[in-house]
Amino acid sequence: MGRFLVTGGAGYIGSHTAKMLAKTGHEVLVYDNLSRGHRDLVKWGHLVEADIRDTTTLREAMRWFRPEAVIHFAAFAYVGESVTNPHMYYDNNVGGTLSILKAMTDAKVSNLIVSSTCATYGQPDRMPITEDTPQAPINPYGRSKLMMEHVCRDFDHAHGIRHMALRYFNACGCDPDGETGERHDPEPHLIPRALMAAAGEIDALDIFGSDYPTPDGTCIRDYIHVNDLATAHIAGALYLMDGGASDAVNLGTGHGASVKDVLDAAGRVAGKPVPHRMSPRRPGDPAELVAAVAKARRVLNWQAGNSDLDQVISSAWNWYVKDRGRT
Ligand SMILES: NC(=O)c1ccc[n+]([C@@H]2O[C@H](COP(=O)([O-])OP(=O)(O)OC[C@H]3O[C@@H](n4cnc5c(N)ncnc54)[C@H](O)[C@@H]3O)[C@@H](O)[C@H]2O)c1
Repeated sequence: MGRFLVTGGAGYIGSHTAKMLAKTGHEVLVYDNLSRGHRDLVKWGHLVEADIRDTTTLREAMRWFRPEAVIHFAAFAYVGESVTNPHMYYDNNVGGTLSILKAMTDAKVSNLIVSSTCATYGQPDRMPITEDTPQAPINPYGRSKLMMEHVCRDFDHAHGIRHMALRYFNACGCDPDGETGERHDPEPHLIPRALMAAAGEIDALDIFGSDYPTPDGTCIRDYIHVNDLATAHIAGALYLMDGGASDAVNLGTGHGASVKDVLDAAGRVAGKPVPHRMSPRRPGDPAELVAAVAKARRVLNWQAGNSDLDQVISSAWNWYVKDRGRT
């Protein structure tokens, strides 16, 4: 079985992927500076506690562990923060990826899976979004991820490092066994915030805009379970290890759910209505973002399997209750 170096493996998607890798017989080395991750979520493989921009430490870790592939999650991922502090985002998301590619070149590791995002598409007006939809991000976070994709292409051309850019839509849900989950601070994502509101941790869930041109007036997004993302990363790594060419693939379900749908499902799961209030639209929130999923099926032989909204929210609720010790 393979050896995988997982940057950002102490975070939300990284820890679920580390578990999935270990469960399927692979060896994992987590590389994370714990700036936004959690030591107690590193349960599947050793932790090297260091920054991805520290190329020397990264190169040493690669020379020692000899990974067949690097799975690169480590990044900052808050859109609002990227607007007020772009330096942080370009430095970590672009500079960090550059450092990884340099270390991989030096250590002769040639397969890289990178976390990209639907935010690289900006506000497309045609749904669903295919991989050929023009990438026109509207904030520094999205631009940093698009730059990351460009940098990866240049390193393939110059140094033969092949990559798979996985453009996720909305990651959600948690490990059904409750061994890891989502623990962001602050928590910007809709589903955990809905559960926080249901549990009384926050007063109410803000619904940003109820006058969108959608059936119920609220924004529509494509919610993909984190374990589906994890299996896609493994499929992407195996594809590259098999000699596959660099590529970019959307990861979503192909189905949209509105904010109102999420609110209703969260209420059913929590067994109580979710307190909420209508707030004005946020600038830059498109009405609808839904992935076209044919390419993922064709290139990776992968499709979402765990992303039924009620099941997703149940897994998130179980984790929330366990992690916060609330009922
Ligand atoms: N959560 C989503 O819905 C979503 C959607 C699209 C793309 N993504 C991308 O997926 C990746 C993972 O997202 P997440 O939600 O798991 O985030 P997260 O914040 O939970 O995890 C990121 C991890 O990276 C680590 N990290 C950050 N900068 C680092 C550095 N310089 N050196 C070492 N470690 C560092 C953090 O400590 C953290 O453990 C990110 O690249 C993000 O942009 C996430």
